This record gives sequence, C-alpha cells and structure tokens, in this order.
Amino acid sequence: MITYISNSLEDTKDFAKVLSKKIKKGDTILFFADMGAGKTTLTKSLLKELGVQSNVTSPTFTIVNEYVAGNTKINHFDFYRIEDESEAEEIGLREMIEDKNSVNIIEWPQNISSILPRNYIKITIKKGEGNKREFLVEGLND
Ligand SMILES: Nc1ncnc2c1ncn2[C@@H]1O[C@H](COP(=O)(O)OP(=O)(O)OP(=O)(O)O)[C@@H](O)[C@H]1O
Ligand SMILES: [Mg+2]
Repeated sequence: MITYISNSLEDTKDFAKVLSKKIKKGDTILFFADMGAGKTTLTKSLLKELGVQSNVTSPTFTIVNEYVAGNTKINHFDFYRIEDESEAEEIGLREMIEDKNSVNIIEWPQNISSILPRNYIKITIKKGEGNKREFLVEGLND
C-alpha cells in the first residue's frame, strides 16, 4: 500500500504524476471517499498526465465521460446518482471494464458493487483540515 499526504492542489498534481506512471491499459481504479474529498480533482490531473488533451469535467450528470490518450481509451464514471445497478449495465459498464485497451476510473463504486472487476486499484481519500488530503493506494503492482 502506498500512502501519499497532500497539503495543496499542487501536491495532488504531483501525486497524479506519480500515479500516472503506474497506470496501465486494462486497469480499473475505484475511488472510496466522501463527497468533496478530491476524486474528480485527482482524476483531472491524472488524465492530463496520461495525455488527455481535451477538457476533463465531472461525469456527475452524464454518469460516464470518455476520453482518448494516444491509443488508450479512458472512461471516467460517477455512479453517485444512479438508483439501480441496471443503469450501469445499460451504459455498457461490463464491456468497458473487460476492454483491455481502456483505463476505467470509477467514483462511487459502492453503488455498482455487483459489477466490479476482480482486480482493481483502490484509492481511498481521507479529507483532513483545510486542503489536507490523505491518499491510500492499494492493489498497484509495480
Ligand atoms: N489537496 C487537495 N487535493 C484535492 N482537492 C483539494 C485539495 N485541497 C482542496 N481541494 C478541493 O476539494 C474539492 C474536491 O472536489 P472534487 O469534486 O474533486 O471531489 P469529489 O471527491 O469528486 O466529490 P464528489 O463525490 O461530489 O464527486 C475541490 O474543490 C478541490 O479544489
Ligand atoms: Mg467527483
């Protein structure tokens, strides 16, 4: 397990850079954190580091936003608002997770717990005072 303490948005960008070097095609990242902890903020920096050139926004209302970096597809999901796991089935979550050419990043995976892949990278974010955030990373093979 890797622990990274961030005291600022700049620190979180640095952490995204470190993380980006460990992410491979086929990986799925699951975020476990409260609202406003920094899942989307970290994802934005991570996607920039992975080479996404288009603007990265929160998929709160779209459920999934899809990006391309070179020959890698990157899917960013937010399942906070879904009421039933069937909504995730309908957008093709299973196929996207099984696609070895894509990286999948999932906010609120608790709401789709029966569709999760067997192997994943788990990032837990703990919100501290002010801008302090603690990132715990599990399941990263180096
Ligand atoms: N060190 C830090 N790292 C990341 N974000 C920080 C940090 N300090 C302050 N913030 C702020 O915390 C907020 C995080 O919001 P963000 O939308 O990323 O949260 P989220 O976990 O995706 O929430 P939600 O569950 O609502 O989608 C942003 O306003 C960001 O600027
Ligand atoms: Mg978010």
